[in-house]
Amino acid sequence: MSSDFSNLRLDFPVLDQHVGGRPLVYLDNAATTHKPRAVIDALARFYERDNSNVHRGLHALSMRATDGYEAARARTAKFLHAADPAEIVFTSGTTASINLVAQGWARANLRPGDVVICTEMEHHSNMVPWQIVCEQTGATLRYIPVTGDDAEGGLDLAAYEEMLNDSVKVVAFTHISNTLGTINPATEICAKAKAAGAITVVDGAQSAGHENVDVQAMGCDFYAFSGHKMAAPTGIGVLYGRRELLDSMDPWQGGGGMINIVNYEGSEWKPSPERFEAGTPNVADAIGLHAAMDYLDQVSRPAIGKHESTLAAQAYDALSQLPGIRLLGPRAGQPRAGLVSFAFADVHAHDVVTFADQDGVALRGGHHCNQPLMKKLGLPSTTRASFYLYNTEEDVAALVASMQRILKFFGA
Ligand SMILES: Cc1ncc(COP(=O)(O)O)c(C=O)c1O
Repeated sequence: MSSDFSNLRLDFPVLDQHVGGRPLVYLDNAATTHKPRAVIDALARFYERDNSNVHRGLHALSMRATDGYEAARARTAKFLHAADPAEIVFTSGTTASINLVAQGWARANLRPGDVVICTEMEHHSNMVPWQIVCEQTGATLRYIPVTGDDAEGGLDLAAYEEMLNDSVKVVAFTHISNTLGTINPATEICAKAKAAGAITVVDGAQSAGHENVDVQAMGCDFYAFSGHKMAAPTGIGVLYGRRELLDSMDPWQGGGGMINIVNYEGSEWKPSPERFEAGTPNVADAIGLHAAMDYLDQVSRPAIGKHESTLAAQAYDALSQLPGIRLLGPRAGQPRAGLVSFAFADVHAHDVVTFADQDGVALRGGHHCNQPLMKKLGLPSTTRASFYLYNTEEDVAALVASMQRILKFFGA
């Protein structure tokens, strides 16, 4: 494996192709990332040599599959600096992880009059589960406002402090915004919530594979992420939960694998994390996730975050020169994660994305599962370019050239 960013593209077989007659420039990483050869090989190796169900088998393949699955759990604990592998629950992704907290912890603990706080910049995955559980329990959902006409001011932390009181039971927020590129001060938000007696749920979908995450230093109670957004396969995700909280929660789903004893009259479940993993787990993709974590840490997550933030800042500066453009999120010079979201006055984002595709540039256009934020900002949609470790300055140049061509075509 290479460690020089200019060569990392070679580790990702899917990038070795042309689109529209040009080398693929993949800038849709906030939606999903590509997989390095090391991850693809780990999956193939599992299916070719070890494929079996886990935990209950006493034959060689089942024991190897179980060892691989549990090694992935231990690796995930290390990846997040969690105190104990038992604090790692495998799920299908961020969405499933957040729903598990909402239905497993919040549904049992919220009462009418209680308050859940989330933010105006949440992905629907960290908003709708809270709307559902508030509806079920009679609790109220409130939002920390986003400031600035282009949401350039980030979260209004003074307003957050004013919202905190002993009715607040949950503070759920995204670490990095998938639409704005804002990096929220997670440690500070968690500390304030804790002082008010609330638990914290961090949506780490856009941060886990992009910076060092230390859940103990962050002080969060739950942290959720998806493998597919950090070089691992689709269909595998993680919920980190503080042991004490996980142990206090009843399972959300029942079935095989999560019980100690079953009688016709009732059942007794296993401790966490197995309690939350009913049915055959996604063994192969957990093993793929393990390989992805090794790969990312070999490159260095802090270096990855720096690399993609640098590319995003370059893109922001170059795009801001274009006529009729509106750029969202932190202004030039402010900290920004590896993505840029923008709208042209006269060209719809879907046209932008369709035309960019002709240039071999893969972007995303739409509301990015942030409909309420888009409404607040008065935008139907934006175009988003999101970077990862295999992107280069040439990719930024291709993005900007494509945008210039589109504006010329539309006479903008
Ligand atoms: C910030 C954020 N949260 C949650 C999600 C949902 O992730 P998944 O669809 O993998 O569950 C996404 C996906 O785009 C995201 O960007």
